[in-house]
Amino acid sequence: MASMRILGTGSYVPPKVLTNYDLVKMGLDTSHEWIVQRTGISERRMADPDVATSDLACEASVKALDMAGMSPQDIDLIILATITPDTCCPAGANWLQAKLEADQAVTFDVTAACSGFIFALNVAEQYLKAGTYRYILVAAAEVMTRTVNWKDRATCILWGDGAGAAVVTWADSGPEILSTHTHTDGKNGQDLLLPGGGSKTTPISHESVDKGLHYLTMIEANQSFRVAVRHFVESIKEAVSSNGLTVEDVDWFIPHQANLRMFHSIAKSLKIPMEKFYVTIHKYGNISGASCAIALDEAVRDGSIKKGHLVCMPVFGGGLTWGSALIRWE
Ligand code: COA
Repeated sequence: MASMRILGTGSYVPPKVLTNYDLVKMGLDTSHEWIVQRTGISERRMADPDVATSDLACEASVKALDMAGMSPQDIDLIILATITPDTCCPAGANWLQAKLEADQAVTFDVTAACSGFIFALNVAEQYLKAGTYRYILVAAAEVMTRTVNWKDRATCILWGDGAGAAVVTWADSGPEILSTHTHTDGKNGQDLLLPGGGSKTTPISHESVDKGLHYLTMIEANQSFRVAVRHFVESIKEAVSSNGLTVEDVDWFIPHQANLRMFHSIAKSLKIPMEKFYVTIHKYGNISGASCAIALDEAVRDGSIKKGHLVCMPVFGGGLTWGSALIRWE
């Protein structure tokens, strides 16, 4: 049956590694043990100062296109999921299009924080179903380390940089995206906030910088943890039940990688063995929307995902946003 199929995946993380020990050396009042115990993160990747989000997205996209056996000129639409675009205007996807020399492609960004990759896949699905576009490049990329306050030990330990991508089409063979689900709760979206530069605050100014408005802030991180787990659990249930399947049918869970303790809570709640979680958080931290796209690509390339496997990708992020993709790897 014709449906949304994945033709290729790709990912890229910058080579520079920032370990927990490096953070301590930078003068942060923390320890490797505390970070590992509370988050599961040992290290994260950091883009060099001259590297922008579209550079990371371009590397991941080239790999996805290569796996698909396609060139950038075959792509009709590029959707970039990001909350750290190169510039507010033009869209990050436009910079990516220029770097790929995919002049024929229509481009735009999707802003859904850590849920971005799944939201972008959901948008792609609508265009493919309608027959508007044939080949769509869905990328998710972030330079999160440029948004953090390195003096705020509660948040700066969490984030990293990187990109993931997938080429999708409407066809009747290949890895099948059985469903995508997306949800938003704007009323409670202010707990993860990057206020600076937006129209609600003053434009970038000495005053806004002095107030630290250009930093990502996280209010009630504890509360955010509980809300995230609840939505992860709901999203998994929604993904399987809408396809007439059960949690036990799933071979791999590839959630947004926010905190390893969240995986343990999800596992406990749904009685899922921890071995079914594909984990990258220990080496990359939280790369917002790119996290699950990178994990998917790594799971494909290292052979963890095999033919016939059912892959569930639940996500949760600032906004609030949450949802899932369920994929049968054929
Ligand atoms: N190193 C050492 N101590 C730290 C620390 C750090 N990096 N960060 C915070 N602490 C301290 C706090 O100051 C606090 O000290 P106190 O008890 O003396 O006041 C103590 O550790 C506990 O802080 P708390 O915030 O309760 O820790 P936590 O167990 O909730 O872990 C997070 C903090 C941020 C790791 C965790 O809440 C989390 O992951 N939240 C979810 C955030 C998230 O990912 N949201 C979704 C986005 S997609």
